[in-house]
Amino acid sequence: MTTDTSIRDRLAALAADLDARLASTTTVADLDALEADTVGRESELAAARRSLGQVAPAERPELGRYINEVAGVMGDKIASRRRELEYAEASARLAAERIDVTLPGRVPARGAHHIITATIEEMVDIFIGLGFDVATGPEVETAWHNFTALNIPPTHPARAETDTLYVRWGDADEEVLLRTHTSPMQARYMLAHPPPVYVVVPGRTFRRDAVDATHSPVFHQLEGLAVDHDITFADLRGTLAHFAREFFGPSQRVRFLPNYFPFTEPSAEMHVSCFACDGSGCRVCGGVGWIEILGCGMVNPAVFEHVGYDPSQVTGWAFGIGIDRIAQIRHGVADLRHFFDSDLRVLRQFP
Ligand code: PHE
Repeated sequence: MTTDTSIRDRLAALAADLDARLASTTTVADLDALEADTVGRESELAAARRSLGQVAPAERPELGRYINEVAGVMGDKIASRRRELEYAEASARLAAERIDVTLPGRVPARGAHHIITATIEEMVDIFIGLGFDVATGPEVETAWHNFTALNIPPTHPARAETDTLYVRWGDADEEVLLRTHTSPMQARYMLAHPPPVYVVVPGRTFRRDAVDATHSPVFHQLEGLAVDHDITFADLRGTLAHFAREFFGPSQRVRFLPNYFPFTEPSAEMHVSCFACDGSGCRVCGGVGWIEILGCGMVNPAVFEHVGYDPSQVTGWAFGIGIDRIAQIRHGVADLRHFFDSDLRVLRQFP
């Protein structure tokens, strides 16, 4: 007959062995085998349970508890070892199946402002420093804003199809066109703002010109407009001379020559001393020592009337700077077409 003590001894030996046997398992499969051997259906533990029936009834409950206790402890230890081994195996598998998806780094292409944009920003900054607002307007414009409001009569040659790119060509003020200058923004700005006005307007302009080294049907202007009480030509001259010194250099000289524009009276063109030869005459200035950079004048009272300003209350002046030619000669770009070619070998020279 099986005795209480012999069962207890065998189970105690089994439990005592377990730690060392668990430590020697290295795979989940090892552990499965060990589990079957120690607590499985064919194990000594199972045999001990089965033999309970042969133990003296008085000892049975006590021994049953002992068997359950040993089974519980062994089961916990096996479960905990199982977690360790499963984690180790999963980690090993992940490490083995690791795929390197990194690619060699790509150096992002570094952009820079186009030389025209950079020139516009430099010019606009100078006027911002003087307290001017900055505005932009539509490139597709009505003939009314582009011509009529600016006192350009219907018969003016600039209105001809040979000079202007029309979007809609019909009766005078219904016509739509690509603006031939930034001056229509004089009208738009005054229609939208009561005086005083101090504003500059950079933008793209269009004329029906053939492309060559110094001409393009698409070009850029910076319009300026100042309207206030008692504004004089002296203010215009002082402002533009300041601009020229800031933009071209402190020793810059300027001169004004009479000109004609329907929307200013009197009108002038401003020349700056050649920044390549400082006025002595060279290839850049065509030997004359001066370079024409803008048209300007006192706002014609007829323009004030078109936009609803009272010419007896306000005076003003306006100017329009040609940007492309200035950028071209300032940076020694031989051919204007380089500005539009998007050739990186050229553009990279102006970071
Ligand atoms: N709009 C004129 C041009 O394109 C320039 C200009 C602007 C002249 C403002 C006088 C006043 O040539």
